[in-house]
Amino acid sequence: MAERVFCIDFGSGFTKVALRPDPGATTRLVNDRDIESTDFCLPSVVVVDRSGPKPVVECGKKAAGRTASNGIEVHANWKKWLFLTPAADDPAANPLETFLRSDDLARLATQHGVSAGQLGHLRQLVGSARELLAGFGVHPASRDTQKQQFAASIAAHYFSWLRQEVLRECDRLPYAGLRYDGIPVRVTAPAFAHGANVTTHPGCKLLTAALAKAGWPLHPERPVVSEPYANAVGVLTKGENHLKKDKFDLGATFGKGPLVTTLKDPDHHAPYRAVVIDVGAFTTDFAVLTMNPGGPGESDPDRAFAVQQHSIAFGMSHLDDRVVAAIPAEKAAWVRAAPASELDAFRNAVYTEDKPHRTNTVGKIGAGDDTQPIKDCLTRFAADLGNEVKQFLATLGSKGMAELVLTGGGMNVPALRDAVLAAATANGHEYAKVHGPGVKKPAGGKPVDKLDPRFTRGGSALGGAGLYFEPAYI
Ligand SMILES: Nc1ncnc2c1ncn2[C@@H]1O[C@H](COP(=O)(O)OP(=O)(O)OP(=O)(O)O)[C@@H](O)[C@H]1O
Ligand SMILES: [Mg+2]
Repeated sequence: MAERVFCIDFGSGFTKVALRPDPGATTRLVNDRDIESTDFCLPSVVVVDRSGPKPVVECGKKAAGRTASNGIEVHANWKKWLFLTPAADDPAANPLETFLRSDDLARLATQHGVSAGQLGHLRQLVGSARELLAGFGVHPASRDTQKQQFAASIAAHYFSWLRQEVLRECDRLPYAGLRYDGIPVRVTAPAFAHGANVTTHPGCKLLTAALAKAGWPLHPERPVVSEPYANAVGVLTKGENHLKKDKFDLGATFGKGPLVTTLKDPDHHAPYRAVVIDVGAFTTDFAVLTMNPGGPGESDPDRAFAVQQHSIAFGMSHLDDRVVAAIPAEKAAWVRAAPASELDAFRNAVYTEDKPHRTNTVGKIGAGDDTQPIKDCLTRFAADLGNEVKQFLATLGSKGMAELVLTGGGMNVPALRDAVLAAATANGHEYAKVHGPGVKKPAGGKPVDKLDPRFTRGGSALGGAGLYFEPAYI
């Protein structure tokens, strides 16, 4: 049982942490000092500086400002490696073995006077060693496995830094006498299909192991929830948690907006559903929560709602990949090598503000000849995103009362937001309320909820720390 909980929304670009300081307290984001500068978004960047006698690890904002150079490794956007599903051991995927079998090595052998016979022996020796090891159940790692293991070790460093950062920030909070270091943690993960329970993906196991290694006590009953599910709960409850006789109070916690209208008059409005679309850096996450007929009387919120959820590896970093392929080589190299903080500024200028981004070395990006190719990438990416939205919503009926929630950093980009909104309202889908950054109320149209960054960026952390996911209170 956990009276208090931290929730880490480990994002590919930014990590957000929320705290529920008491069972019925409103969940808050840690390091939420200034809503405009979104200080609660901590860059998920790790730098390993190997230039001195001992490697030095640096994380977060400082790391996001660094550029890779001799001896300085910069790791950004590494969350995806944790969620790789390595193929069955494939010798060709192991870089050392590939090299061993390559013509390059044969050429080198000739150059150094190693005979073809000797090289053949070496190859045979390695082949026998592989067979011998396989007999003991040892399989040399494939390239994907190596990447995954590397990401797991970066994760342990990152979460250890995060823990210090979070505990220091918590000391500024007004809850006298609270022992923050004993509060357990829940983490959010993409809803990649993996068996019946989306949190059983091997990547989730690596994630929780890295947290434990970094000293975070894991939540005893539910250490992982999916990003879209947590996001839906965060935005719809606005981080509020209510108790009735020491138990979770579903009605009061979701007690605003179209859900209440449906509960009051189910004959006209049921079923109630909430559709959440979160465009992140690595994934776009979808969730639909549909209130079950017996839902309002259910004490277990997991049973009150039927949940459909889905994550696809298609986010802002994939838009960057397309842009990189479409612009001149020196500018593409700049985008590839830019520090994470600079890349954020580039995305904001070029995708959101429709302005060129000035660089010190390769001139402006998004001006002159590369204006149109970038625009084309954005248009095509928006269209592909729209198709994914339509595909996800295809099985959804149009009966009942629904609300739509648009979140994630990608939804700040008007072209993407417009495309997602258009796709979500195609095929007869209507919403009693639309939540999102910068959404405008159509003349005479339905109400809108202009979400601020606390919810567009922090929704999953806020929801994941909700009492909703606390089995002891239901
Ligand atoms: N105004 C903006 N214009 C353009 N891009 C933006 C804007 N605001 C945020 N972004 C970008 O959106 C990306 C996604 O942000 P978000 O915090 O939702 O991602 P994440 O949670 O780290 O990723 P994921 O959930 O996929 O792991 C960020 O990397 C950021 O660069
Ligand atoms: Mg995210």
